[in-house]
Amino acid sequence: MARYAQIVGWGCYVPERVLTNRDLEGIIDTSDDWIFSRTGIRERRIATNPRETTATMATKAAAAALRVAGVSANEVDLIICSTSSPEHQFPATACLVQDALGAEHAGAFDLSAACSGFVYALTLARSMIATGAAQNVLVIGSETLSRIVDWSDRTTCVLFGDGAGAVLLSASEEPGGILASVLGSDGSGGELLSLPAGGSRMPTTLETVTGRQHYVKMDGAAVFRFATRIMATATREVVQKAGLTLDDIDLIIPHQANARIIESSVHRQLKIPREKIFINLERYGNTSTASIPLALCEAIESGRIKKNDHLVFVSFGAGLTWAATAIKWGAPVPVSQPKWWKEAQRQGAYGAARARSTVRRLLRKYDSLAEDIRVSEIELPERFRVLGLGKRGVKKHEQNGNE
Ligand code: UT7
Repeated sequence: MARYAQIVGWGCYVPERVLTNRDLEGIIDTSDDWIFSRTGIRERRIATNPRETTATMATKAAAAALRVAGVSANEVDLIICSTSSPEHQFPATACLVQDALGAEHAGAFDLSAACSGFVYALTLARSMIATGAAQNVLVIGSETLSRIVDWSDRTTCVLFGDGAGAVLLSASEEPGGILASVLGSDGSGGELLSLPAGGSRMPTTLETVTGRQHYVKMDGAAVFRFATRIMATATREVVQKAGLTLDDIDLIIPHQANARIIESSVHRQLKIPREKIFINLERYGNTSTASIPLALCEAIESGRIKKNDHLVFVSFGAGLTWAATAIKWGAPVPVSQPKWWKEAQRQGAYGAARARSTVRRLLRKYDSLAEDIRVSEIELPERFRVLGLGKRGVKKHEQNGNE
């Protein structure tokens, strides 16, 4: 029997602090008029509390999605966290979310496809579900871009905001859910939008820090030109792949980067009426991979989505990457409120997850005392010992062809 991947839960989270264009006028040489007329952005949310991070926001959005779906963290098989502002290079932010939720049976990894990451992750989740490898997959887009933008660079810092959105995809026998996807990349445009330092190409040095190479750099005009072309092409392709026409689409949720990009690509080129395009960037700015799930949550809350609607999510971003997906919405909207005792049970499970995590950390500290594995007692296999090889020798031995 065919397995369909339906979005059955959704949730989002934004930090409390609102930073308006007027606030920015006091920090850099800009104006509300310039920002709004060039981008459509009026304000954005900023995580000013250092304890608020990509993982904590992702966890809140994911917990909300599980609540809507009525699924417990224990039933999740996989957590994919798309982000360009991860908690660390490693471990993956998704693993921290897994721990915080107490998702004891879930694999977890981060996905790096910049602003297109959420749609990439949806596509992957759908494949996992369709093949039977997973039943429930949490897909999260979360960003604290305020920590990686250069607040002295007016050409970028006015654009971005922080936030997180998540959906739960579940296997279903009901036809629909994610119908088709289009993923693309063109690495020749990598330098148009990047965070240059901190990786293997440009490791962190005093020079990279003083040269402000750990912040987002962008050729805005080039990205703009790419975006207007690719958003229209990817939408056309995905609609066709799903066996639909543009007229069948009830709502398009585009990546919320710039209202002018959306106007030029989705409205003018594709001739999609404005009432079928969901835009909320005025209040959040560009939250990169979180922008589509954040917009999805608001579209649902404002009654713009009903069962059996055809939706398109379309995005572009650093890489360069692009992605689009066509969806037949299967979940009822609005969903019924969970009973108070179920909610109490859920909160209790998160409390237990926190306690379990603390205990595990403590136990790991004393792990060296464990009787079963004494690292110092583990010896090299016989063939290495005969040759009298240490670690270095092993390498040399392997290079010499293991003779
Ligand atoms: O998720 C993907 C992320 N990236 C994007 O979506 C970015 C796509 N690109 C864009 O959205 C637009 O290119 C921007 C909004 C970034 C810029 O708009 P633009 O119409 O391409 O402006 P521009 O870069 O051509 O700059 C026009 C002028 C320049 O002054 P001069 O050289 O004409 O005197 C800039 O220095 O505006 C100036 N400017 C500003 N002025 C006030 C640039 N940033 C600002 C600012 N406030 N914040």
